[in-house]
Formats: sequence, structure tokens, C-alpha cells
Amino acid sequence: MKSVNVRIDQIFAPASTVKEADIAALQPEIEQANQLLHNGRGKGNDFLGWVNLPSSITETQLNAIQAVADTLRGEADIVIAIGIGGSYLGAKAVLEALSGSFDSLVAPRKGVNPRVIFAGQNISEDYTWELMQAVKDYDIAAIVISKSGTTTEPAIAFRIIREEIERRYGKQGAARRIAAVTDEAKGALRKLADTEGYDTFVIPDNVGGRYSVLTPVGLLPLAVAGVDIRELVAGAAEMERLTATASFAENPAMQYAAARTALYRAGRKIEILASYEPKLQNIGEWWKQLYGESEGKNGKGIFPASVTLTADLHSMGQYIQEGERTLFETVIRVAEPAHTFKIGTDPENLDGLNFLAGKRIGEVNRMAILGTMLAHVDGGVPNIAVELPKIDARTIGALLYMFEKACGISGYALGVNPFDQPGVEAYKKNMFALLGKPGYEAEGEKLKGRL
Ligand code: PA5
Repeated sequence: MKSVNVRIDQIFAPASTVKEADIAALQPEIEQANQLLHNGRGKGNDFLGWVNLPSSITETQLNAIQAVADTLRGEADIVIAIGIGGSYLGAKAVLEALSGSFDSLVAPRKGVNPRVIFAGQNISEDYTWELMQAVKDYDIAAIVISKSGTTTEPAIAFRIIREEIERRYGKQGAARRIAAVTDEAKGALRKLADTEGYDTFVIPDNVGGRYSVLTPVGLLPLAVAGVDIRELVAGAAEMERLTATASFAENPAMQYAAARTALYRAGRKIEILASYEPKLQNIGEWWKQLYGESEGKNGKGIFPASVTLTADLHSMGQYIQEGERTLFETVIRVAEPAHTFKIGTDPENLDGLNFLAGKRIGEVNRMAILGTMLAHVDGGVPNIAVELPKIDARTIGALLYMFEKACGISGYALGVNPFDQPGVEAYKKNMFALLGKPGYEAEGEKLKGRL
């Protein structure tokens, strides 16, 4: 089985407005969009560094990341990864996918099982206070990640965490315990990191935040957490090759991009990414940023949402089955669980579940997936299936790259620049104005008049 397979046959339900022919008709356009990513002639072409990133990461780069990760692992029970948006979602998603669901029940210990936790992705006073309380009896270190080096949320968190690290370990100790991932030359973080002598890694200029999980942005925290980053990159490199060379019919990124483009053009404005493995929930968060920031512009774009099933069948299931028919669903299916667990026999059979006795829970989950897909398709929600043989570093690397590639293709098919995010600035301007940042006074007065 391929590391990631995309099947789109489920969307051809009787009620579906999209037919196989509609997808086939998109082939030239989708192939051309894929070409644009490779020949660099499309919009936002100064941000295409991610296209060949997996195959161009060198052994030296991976060794350097692993070396700093090993130092942090040796110094700290808890390593706080500070970043927001593309500077944290990828690491969080991969870490959760590849960790045990209950790892947090085991106390973290430096050199053995240090834990990576996240900060700087919000401005919650309570989150910050609770974080500082939670780490007070542990040795800590930090990885601060910001491409611009000026983003407010991580900058506030870093100010607090750095102060704590310096208070505990002194300036020299802090230099051993803090690593920065930022621009090669620009930004406040670069300046500070150079002055303080932190280990630093560069986010390449031509890789935007949401496409940066396979740079040190994602790889450093993941290596600290003990993830096999070589396998992750190898999986992505395999998918890079496949999506660069495979024909339309055999190309998971082109198939996925074509299906969602056809559905959008047929009036399906909302895509729900559904998975049946709780540990893939944050893959959904990463995917939402990737597609939401890439496509949502010029009054266009599919709204990305995500659910974890079967849990959310008991909350969102009603809407998906019978609500507004503007949805389609992309279902991540994992063929083989990592562990075996069978359901036992109960002599009383009060719950009436003895018909399941001897079956693996995974088999019940599989039938739930198939039953749900058919029900949703019959209810008028077209389904696309993304199939993974199992969850491991290689497969997750391939999945991430497939989604990135399909996102670039979809963005070009939509006619937008999939690599900018001008709309993110609006809230920042207002927040600065309301907080009285120098230079924003006049705007601040105007806004206060509206409140
Ligand atoms: O995708 C993006 O570019 C954004 O989500 C950024 O990653 C996010 O705003 C954080 O930016 P920075 O890394 O500059 O702090």
C-alpha cells in the first residue's frame, strides 16, 4: 500500500452534484497548477521553498538539529516551544500523532522522556500563569520560534519564560537552555539570539510559516520530543517525488486538489476534515491553518473545519447528516492500528454487545467509518477518502507534504496567491492601536469611539 492514498470515488453518490467527468475535466488545469509550483511562474513564487524542501534537507542540517535537541533533552525535563500559527501547529500536530495518548501521565525526566509543551499561541493570562506554575518544580528549557521575530503572542510568552530561565540558571545557563528559530538576519529575535549567544536555526526566506513544519520550526521541537525526524522527512521526500512525477490518476495531491476544486465550484463551500483517531485531531488544526490562510482571500475559498469521529458524531453528526448542504467531507482512514485490543464476552450480555465479542476494536471503528461515510454521502455530503496504512513518522511526513502540495495546487486553481496572508494584519493593527503602541495613537482614538 502507498504511504498515502487518496480515493475520491465516494463523492459520486446519486445526489452528488459532482460527477467523475467534472473531476476528469479539471485535469489540464490541475496539472498546470502543479507545474506552476515546480517552474515557479505562479503567484507568490518567492515562497516556493517548501516544494523541494524534503529532498533538499541535508544530513548536516539534520545532525545539527539533532545535536541541539539532544542538548535540550539533557538539560530539561520540560522544553517549552514558543510560537504561533505556522510556528507551532505543525510540531504540535506531529507530536500528538506520534505520541502515546496518555504520555502526559508519566512524569517527564531530562535525558529520559523530556516533554515538549507549547506557549505563545495565545494571550491568555490564565494559560500563562498556569504554565509557569506547572513547570516550577521541573528543569526547563525553551525553543522560541518566530519567522518575523516580531509576533506579539510569542514575544510576550518569551519575555516571561526567558526571565524565568535567566532567574533560575543565570545568563550563561540560559544560553545553553534557549534555542531560537528565526530569520537569518532580520527581526528582534535574531538580534536578541545573536547577542545572548543562543543556538539558532534559520527559517528559509522562501518558506512561509504554514509550510514550515519540515524546517527547524517543526523538526527541532519534534527531535526534542524524541520523534524520528529522519523518518518524517523521508516520508515527505517520498511524497515530494510522487506528486512531482505521478500521472493525474495516480497523484494523491492532484486527485485531492481536483476533487475539492470540483466540489467548491459546485457550491460546496465548507470542507470538514474528519478522522477517527483522536491523536490526529491536531493534524486537523494544522490543516485548517494551511488551507484557511492559503485560500481564504479575495472573497473566495473553502472554509476548513475539522471533526474527530466517532466522538463528534454525537455533537456535529446531526448537522453533517441533515444541515445546510454546503458541506463536503475529507475522511482520513488509518488501515492498521498500532495495537491489538479485542472485545470480550459477557455471560450476562446486558449491553447486548456479545455480537462483537472476539472482534478487534479497530474492526468496529472501520465499520463505523464505512457506515458513516455511506450515511453522509446518502445525506448529500460528498466524501473524499485519504487512506494511511498506519500512523508512523514516515506516513505522517508523507501526509503533511501531500496536503501542502494539494493546497498549493488548489490555491492556484482558485486563482489566489496561496502563499500570502494579508488579512492577518487587520486585528494586529487594531490591537496595537487600542493598546496605545507608539505610532498608532490616532487610530486608537478612532477605534475607542466605536466601542
Ligand atoms: O503561516 C503564517 O505565515 C503565519 O501563521 C505565521 O506562521 C504566524 O503568524 C507566526 O508568525 P512568525 O513565525 O513570524 O511569528
